[in-house]
Amino acid sequence: MLFPEGVAIDGISGEVTPSTDRYTKKLSELSGLFHDAAAFDKVVAEGGDPIAYEVVDYRKQECDICFGTTIMMPGQVGGEYFMTRGHFHERKDCGEGYYTQSGEGLLLLESREGEVRTVEMKPGICAFIPPEWAHRSINTGSEKLVFVWFCATDAGHDYGTIRERGMRKLVVERDGRPAIIDNPNFA
Ligand code: 6PG
Ligand code: NI
Repeated sequence: MLFPEGVAIDGISGEVTPSTDRYTKKLSELSGLFHDAAAFDKVVAEGGDPIAYEVVDYRKQECDICFGTTIMMPGQVGGEYFMTRGHFHERKDCGEGYYTQSGEGLLLLESREGEVRTVEMKPGICAFIPPEWAHRSINTGSEKLVFVWFCATDAGHDYGTIRERGMRKLVVERDGRPAIIDNPNFA
């Protein structure tokens, strides 16, 4: 049986207490994600394979909703900002919310039909991700980007689609600011 409880979410560190699960993605685990493969190898080797992001869950299999945080480090690979893998949800009826607590970023979304949208990520903004929109978060700032996500417990992740063909747009730094450009490698 499940019992109610208060879960502490630290908006700066992203720590969830109590949490049920967590994982860390080191930059080397994101091989193939960034446009500039040579720059990627260099940042991994010279930067000591830094952590790119961490995900902390509060998830009970017996309950339909869950939440957690994603903690994204700042950084760049060949001018492209650190980002998450990006995914569609497996369940076609499952959307998601992303409430940013600290830092700044851009949420890059792409529908199954190929429409691209972005939503600014900054404290106080909760991004609505409709079902059937792939979503990737990008830390465009110089601090950690911390956001709370909430979705269906069994929404599932389809990573394959984005891994195989990438997303239509890249987010890169141009003149010290984020710019959204066409992905020349989009298959
Ligand atoms: C989810 C959320 C979120 C996401 C992380 C890491 O569906 O579970 O969108 O928790 O998984 O921010 O992003 P990737 O899963 O794309 O690596
Ligand atoms: Ni998701």
